[in-house]
Amino acid sequence: MIAVTKAVIPVAGLGTRFLPATKATPKEMLPIVDTPVIQYIVEEAVRAGLDDVLMITGRNKRALEDHFDVADQLEAALRAKDDEERLRLVQDATRLADVHYVRQGQPKGLGHAVLCASRHVGREPFAVLLGDDMIDRRDPLLTRMLEVRAQHGGSVVALMPVDAAHISMYGAAATELTGDSDVVRVTALVEKPAARDAPSNLAVIGRYVLDPAIFPVLAATPPGRGGEIQLTDAINTLAGGRIDDGGPVHGVVFTGRRYDTGDRAEYLRTIVRFAADRPDLGPDFLAWLREFVAEQDQPGGRPVSAEVRA
Ligand code: G1P
Repeated sequence: MIAVTKAVIPVAGLGTRFLPATKATPKEMLPIVDTPVIQYIVEEAVRAGLDDVLMITGRNKRALEDHFDVADQLEAALRAKDDEERLRLVQDATRLADVHYVRQGQPKGLGHAVLCASRHVGREPFAVLLGDDMIDRRDPLLTRMLEVRAQHGGSVVALMPVDAAHISMYGAAATELTGDSDVVRVTALVEKPAARDAPSNLAVIGRYVLDPAIFPVLAATPPGRGGEIQLTDAINTLAGGRIDDGGPVHGVVFTGRRYDTGDRAEYLRTIVRFAADRPDLGPDFLAWLREFVAEQDQPGGRPVSAEVRA
């Protein structure tokens, strides 16, 4: 069976939830402490053995290309100051992976973005990582998904149980048990169903390992929810076995740490967690945070909202 070596990262989204910050800056460049979200995503792909990375970009995404490119002037300036530590930080992003870019042109949906990868990917299985979902490095979800692909062939999605009230924000899966407690067979997928129509509370999260059979299916998939070509709809076609090849669809049920950095409140929580875990910043930051929370909790203490309004 062909090994998976390629990762596709769709980054053409407008990032409207983070306006005005994302007016001129790609949302994928927003930092978690001092490292842009996109770098964490590429690092995750590389840790899983996928160092051929294709980004599906759009307008206003030049900063992403600059981030993974050599920064001659900056490197020379740091070298002149003997600032080896920062020089290494700047060079790390360049050396991380072999990064390629293709433009989506028109915003026709996630399925269409993945279809734009077909020429680069060819006839190999590949992974898709969505930039809004960060998976904690201590919980190697993608590696587990690659194992499941190696065992069963076909395609593999990542699933996470969510509150029934939240399932309408995700693709939802109908599943059957397998012999492995963290693996299910996916029999159908529905994109963002109303809670009462959802086949389960298992939500598709932003990691996929796809058989190349997805490409002709995507090309034939009509616009679905929101008038967009949905990746979920194409995987549903594979899961229904309505085509001859492509193999089964399995789901890895993930119970580890996921950070939805596409949501502002969750983005803030992610920054706090990552800052607290950092050996260089964590101890001082946590001490300040404890004081800050105690201050907020005091009767007569200044509530956060008043401070924000002030
Ligand atoms: C996309 C997919 C959806 C999936 C979600 C995971 O939706 O279409 O099936 O559950 O990512 O984050 P989006 O969040 O881009 O609207």
